[in-house]
Amino acid sequence: MNTAFHFQEWITSHSECAELALDHLLDSAQTVPHRLHDAMRYAAQGGGKRIRPLLVYAAGQLGDKDSARAESLDAAAVAIECIHAYSLVHDDLPCMDDDDLRRGRPTVHKAFDEATALLVGDALQTRAFEILASANCDAQIRLKMIAALAAASGSRGMAGGQAIDLESVGKKLDLAGLKQMHAMKTGALLSCAVELGGICAHLGPAQMAHLASYAKSLGLAFQIVDDVLDATADSETLGKTAGKDAAANKPTYVTLMGLDYAQKQAKELQEVAIASLDSFGASAQALKDLAFLIVNRGK
Ligand code: IPE
Ligand code: IPE
Ligand code: MG
Ligand code: MG
Ligand code: MG
Repeated sequence: MNTAFHFQEWITSHSECAELALDHLLDSAQTVPHRLHDAMRYAAQGGGKRIRPLLVYAAGQLGDKDSARAESLDAAAVAIECIHAYSLVHDDLPCMDDDDLRRGRPTVHKAFDEATALLVGDALQTRAFEILASANCDAQIRLKMIAALAAASGSRGMAGGQAIDLESVGKKLDLAGLKQMHAMKTGALLSCAVELGGICAHLGPAQMAHLASYAKSLGLAFQIVDDVLDATADSETLGKTAGKDAAANKPTYVTLMGLDYAQKQAKELQEVAIASLDSFGASAQALKDLAFLIVNRGK
């Protein structure tokens, strides 16, 4: 029997799972108010690499198999993508990064209007927790997932990181400050994706610690690569406006440490992340390949 792992097939099938689950778990645009639900679907569907859902599925396949796990993984994948999509909608608003283009299309406040974009963020955030609270799994698992997602999204996680990002415009952060901002605004949700998968897979504390160390390195690498691509790729490739960080005078890995250092650092973090998974053996191949994909995207 050929048991070789085919990453491309894995990505295709799990991206499909994420799209189907999103379609199923988001309200239809026929639900009142139609315009808000239409805008929520616009924000969450139609593009995006779905990195966070893929991390949920990849971590969720560690440990012993059980039949109920697929449904809780779908709920976790959609919940975290809802929070991510909301963070993008708000990130693009004129009072934050003021962007017109996202995932190759007009941003939500351009395609709809600013007030709708604000409400889309609010409603995607609460929908995420509603989905987790009603996931078809053990109550203890639901509670752990809700606590993890709330902590990663809030003022000590993504929202806090976004606050530091806005406070830092025109300022020079030192390397420790930059790392902290990246760990919060981007790393927290990526780590949470991996954690949600581990929770669904009923992993023990030692295994969760290995996963957390993988995710910490990967989260920082992810935002370094985002900074590098902002400085080196074009808007068409990115599906969002290139060169925004320099134009908005934001401190990034590229402006602080230079392009070469940033690229080398991302590669090093990829290797550290992958090495953290040694004890899992072959069942962690999807997580390892995702780390490679994240760091080498756009190449
Ligand atoms: C962009 O995230 C925002 C950051 C946290 C850097 P992604 O690069 O995952 O965006 P999508 O979901 O693929 O559009
Ligand atoms: C955003 O970072 C991180 C979020 C929490 C959304 P960026 O502002 O660099 O993300 P992009 O480049 O607009 O996707
Ligand atoms: Mg931003
Ligand atoms: Mg932005
Ligand atoms: Mg960016």
